[in-house]
Amino acid sequence: MGKNKVIVGCQWGDEGKGKIVDLLASDADFIARFQGGANAGHTIVVDDTKYVLHLIPSGIIQPGKICLIGNGVVLDPFTFMEELEFLTEKGIDYKDRLFVSPACNLVLPYHKLVEAVEEKNRGTFSIETTKRGIGPAYVDKVARNGIRVADMFEPERLKRRLEYQKVIKDKYLSGSDDERADLKRTYDELMKLVPLFKTLAIDVSLRLNEAAKQGKTILYEGAQGSMLDVDLGTYPFATSSNTTVGGALTGLGIGPKMIDEVVGIVKAYTTRVGAGPFPTELVDDTGDKLRTLGDEFGATTGRPRRCGWLDLVSLRHVVRINGVDSIAITKLDVLDELPEIKVCTAYDLKGTVHSEVPLDLSELSQASPIYNNLPGWMADTTGTTRFEDLPENARNYLNYIADYLGVTICIVSTGAKRKETIVV
Ligand code: GDP
Ligand code: IMO
Ligand code: MG
Repeated sequence: MGKNKVIVGCQWGDEGKGKIVDLLASDADFIARFQGGANAGHTIVVDDTKYVLHLIPSGIIQPGKICLIGNGVVLDPFTFMEELEFLTEKGIDYKDRLFVSPACNLVLPYHKLVEAVEEKNRGTFSIETTKRGIGPAYVDKVARNGIRVADMFEPERLKRRLEYQKVIKDKYLSGSDDERADLKRTYDELMKLVPLFKTLAIDVSLRLNEAAKQGKTILYEGAQGSMLDVDLGTYPFATSSNTTVGGALTGLGIGPKMIDEVVGIVKAYTTRVGAGPFPTELVDDTGDKLRTLGDEFGATTGRPRRCGWLDLVSLRHVVRINGVDSIAITKLDVLDELPEIKVCTAYDLKGTVHSEVPLDLSELSQASPIYNNLPGWMADTTGTTRFEDLPENARNYLNYIADYLGVTICIVSTGAKRKETIVV
């Protein structure tokens, strides 16, 4: 395995990135989040304790690891505070090992208000976002109207930039009695957080580059999944950031040579939460079974996740756009009770067989999957820690995936807990 690894989700999110980042963090010195915001929900289970993190890197659970939030992240300071409280309650000491880039754009209450209105306006085309204000915050960033962590340290500038929000968001804010429209309140609440944020703000790019020079090991933690990438995913049913590998460079201020390996996280079947195309979705008993066995309910919103078979065509696209070197396959145990497992190896699009994703990914909504049927193993794999101890059909399933994608398997996850893992 390479030294400094980027961890990217290969489907539509919730692949188990949190678990794998926590696991790999034991051999790392730094863990850095590079994009997304509190739309993410990364679950880590250690013995009987479950942690769900939204903004703070999953490496924080491992003692002593340094965790950085890069400029590519849109940071909701109030959610962030709740997360710090959660860590304190759980006895996790984050002092002197959690840092934030001053160039992070803030997600503020009015972003959530704007998003609620926009989602409503979209009507039947609603994206079914997480309602964490992510889209509107990235819109402000790109329009250069965003408010950054650094602005909190310059009260007059912060005031001016907040005032300007009134001008550009007039139709959402003026006359609203929603407290999220109250910019004075937002200003006051932000000012309370200034002393803490002053202790957290560092030059993340500089710190990582120095760390690399000193031979430290770095994990770059992605959020969401590659199929939700704003450029390369199923636009407009996507999130607003680059969830793919390039996001790590721009979201942290690092060069490509600071990445030694791209690790893709692949769930052994597929899930999606929110609207948008999903060719292998199962709206039948098998889909319900996967949801129940896999406990497929959103870590951030609690929404039931849509479930379906593995889609190797979209995965091959994702391997290519990220340059994935190796994959960690998660939730293998969820398939234990299925007599037959299907994998999609091509799409039927208007009567023509396609072995690659269509040029316009939105056409995926019309793609019918063409499946290869593989035999299940009908045996309990939960907690298996050695590849050779897996049933033969489970090993065949994993090898089939790796061969199809032309990648190696670095990890197989056989349960939610840290220990329930095969390191290949
Ligand atoms: P993330 O967003 O990619 O970090 O994934 P989530 O945390 O949103 O969702 C993954 C869910 O699957 C969490 O509840 C994990 O605890 C759980 N999980 C992770 N790996 C495994 C596994 O191998 N088997 C089972 N049964 N659950 C797993
Ligand atoms: P993690 O990091 C799964 C989905 C939303 C919606 C779309 C846009 O836990 O894998 P947004 O709020 O980002 O504007 O919503 O993206 N989505 C996720 N789905 N896992 C996530 O994160 C997601 N983050 C956003 O459901 O369809
Ligand atoms: Mg998640």
